[in-house]
Amino acid sequence: MNPVLSAPPANGQALSEWYAPINRDLAEVEKILAQTLKSKYARVAEVVEHVSHYRGKRLRPAVLLLVAKACGRLTHEHHVLGAVVEMIHTATLVHDDILDNATVRRHVPTVNAKWGNQTSVLLGDYLFTHAFHLSATLGDARACKIIGEATNRVCEGELCQGLEQGNLGLSEKTYFDLIDGKTAELIACCCRLGALFSGADPKVVESLSRYGRQLGLAFQIADDLLDLEGDEVATGKSLGSDLAQVKLTLPLIHLLDQSPETGGLRLQQLLASPGNHKREKLIPILMETGSLDYARRQADGCASNALDELKCLPASSARSILEMLTRRVVHRQS
Ligand code: IPE
Ligand code: IPE
Ligand code: MG
Ligand code: MG
Repeated sequence: MNPVLSAPPANGQALSEWYAPINRDLAEVEKILAQTLKSKYARVAEVVEHVSHYRGKRLRPAVLLLVAKACGRLTHEHHVLGAVVEMIHTATLVHDDILDNATVRRHVPTVNAKWGNQTSVLLGDYLFTHAFHLSATLGDARACKIIGEATNRVCEGELCQGLEQGNLGLSEKTYFDLIDGKTAELIACCCRLGALFSGADPKVVESLSRYGRQLGLAFQIADDLLDLEGDEVATGKSLGSDLAQVKLTLPLIHLLDQSPETGGLRLQQLLASPGNHKREKLIPILMETGSLDYARRQADGCASNALDELKCLPASSARSILEMLTRRVVHRQS
């Protein structure tokens, strides 16, 4: 059996060890998710169950709840908003796995591997529409507007990445724009919602939104490093797809900037070569040019910017957890 599949589902042990102060709130989020997504059609329920049973790290609702707690007021509205952002995130993963031709996610087969692309497209839509409907039940136009705007940018980011596929001339600036949309925007949105619905001062809301954006950038750069040098058993997902699909990420952009001729030639030869060991062959080249270290430094820089923004909060256990989580994000293995 494929060891990636046979490993126990990683319910986010790595980051969730800090979720203790919000465990009861996260359980409320889970209840809302289950209630919202249920279907009277057994076959629909089975597909929905597949994505809700195998949980990921629940990073987005956790950050939203921790921000609310650190701002001093965590209410039922935050539970609903936590469920909304997790549904949007899951929708993007279900669609992303089609785009990336991925077969494993959260230690189990992807929806596309199990039920095919048609079901995946529709399940992603089902998750998006339920998220938007759920956010409307709060009767607060601010939530709908913020969530709608963030989702627009997430989709734009994924669209942009798809259109840039194969472009070996992708600039670092475009890469940052792209990950800002596809990943950082939703994490910024979680922080904005957490702070806004706790009644925080507008300046604090803006600062925490910037915190979420920098955390999201660090998170995605680290994810892109894992795609190149991570372990499929630890992450529980298909890796190497950025390379297989020629979606340029920071280490490759750095390699091509450092050594446009030799680096470019070696990369093109590697991409054109047969076999499945492209990741392993690329790593020594990226080490030679310091490209992996460069990407790690950029992720550390974003995490450090994020930590600066947290200074707007008074000292509390929730703030300390956000700080630890921010440091861990860059060096995570899953
Ligand atoms: C994966 O997100 C997609 C990225 C934005 C890198 P997570 O790593 O948070 O996925 P789960 O929810 O834990 O599976
Ligand atoms: C995840 O992007 C999808 C979104 C952020 C919308 P990736 O393709 O980089 O993430 P993984 O590695 O599959 O989780
Ligand atoms: Mg992708
Ligand atoms: Mg992917």
